[in-house]
Amino acid sequence: MIVEGNLLLPDGAQQVKLALGWLRLEGGRIKEVHLGPCPHEADAGGPQALISPGFIDTHLHMPQFDIIGAHGLDLLDWLDQVTFLAETRWANADYAQAMSERVLDQLLAHGTTSFLGYGTIHHDGTRRALDACRKRQMRAVVGQVLIDQEAPESMLNEREASLAQTEALLQDFRDGVDGRVSVAVTPRFAITCSAQLMAQAAELAQRYDAHIQTHLAEMKPELEAVAALHGGPHYTGVYQRAGLLGQRTVLGHCIYLSDEELEILAQTGAVAAHCPTANSFLRSGTMNRARLLSAGVRLSVGSDIGGGYERSMVRSARAMIEATFHAGTAPMSAGAAWWHITAGNAGAMGWSSVGSLQEGFEADVLVIEPDVPWLDAYNPLGMLMFGWDDRWLRQTIVAGAVAFDAAV
Ligand code: GUN
Ligand code: FE
Repeated sequence: MIVEGNLLLPDGAQQVKLALGWLRLEGGRIKEVHLGPCPHEADAGGPQALISPGFIDTHLHMPQFDIIGAHGLDLLDWLDQVTFLAETRWANADYAQAMSERVLDQLLAHGTTSFLGYGTIHHDGTRRALDACRKRQMRAVVGQVLIDQEAPESMLNEREASLAQTEALLQDFRDGVDGRVSVAVTPRFAITCSAQLMAQAAELAQRYDAHIQTHLAEMKPELEAVAALHGGPHYTGVYQRAGLLGQRTVLGHCIYLSDEELEILAQTGAVAAHCPTANSFLRSGTMNRARLLSAGVRLSVGSDIGGGYERSMVRSARAMIEATFHAGTAPMSAGAAWWHITAGNAGAMGWSSVGSLQEGFEADVLVIEPDVPWLDAYNPLGMLMFGWDDRWLRQTIVAGAVAFDAAV
């Protein structure tokens, strides 16, 4: 398959550039990358198209797509009154499967080809979600949520049983062995996890070299609850004591952290997943990205659906730029934001063969045809990001095959 257009290519540290060119996709990989006009008849794209790597989302909740917009509650009330109820529906594995299929098709229709996401506490439901990812060949990391305290009865799982179930998933879905789908060890957050559960979860993740995902310091009442349950000196210390922090750990939110905590994150190499739309929707606060970056903390960006309300990573990226306005720090450029939702998030996940249009990389490619004269704009990437219209996405190619086609 030949794809022609303005290629979104990495350009030094945390930036992208555009160059007219074309790709040859073969065997699920980007076989060739060429600059200049395409000498062949292209199968997709054209001289006015933007060709982007598939978008990567580092924080979302698959069972929460149907509660987007449950407006007016703060985090802890939103969890109790809306979110946990929605997640209990995944006790029915057929329901979980049907919902997963729907959710993944929505992601593909918005250009997301890769993600790190939460299932629910339910083993069969989460397994069906992983199966659905595998069926679509998406590069996905999904975890069965671990909860053993401070939640309604229907959302609690027995500690040993849930760890054994996670281990079974880890054995059945192994990135690189049988495809592009793998499992994240997923203690939900420190309020709903005992110290023992978190320590055992960390040990399990280490044994399988698995990703770990959880939430950290999203809002102030959460910090107080964590201190009351787990003691001091701080929230990050709770995860550090459990052994949960490392290069494959992705921590949602990270808004309210002391300098000492930032230093721990920087030293352990854990990733802070900025979720700007969720932070605004749940009125949690604004992450000061510049502060985390200058402390040496690795950063990624996530939609955090359904606390976040945007299925498009372009609009999540736009919200990330806007967060730099609200924080009063230097505004992030559109190029840096495009980098974050592609190569940047790939790097945060530790992936070295997706997120970029390079020879040999996995062929996750978007064909975007804006209906505005973007190539002549003052800031083409800014125009695309701030003027983004989902209808511009013509095709989402996953592992070399068309997985979404707007014309079909
Ligand atoms: N903290 C614990 N669980 C959740 C969740 O589902 N969403 C958000 N935004 N924060 C959380
Ligand atoms: Fe979340």
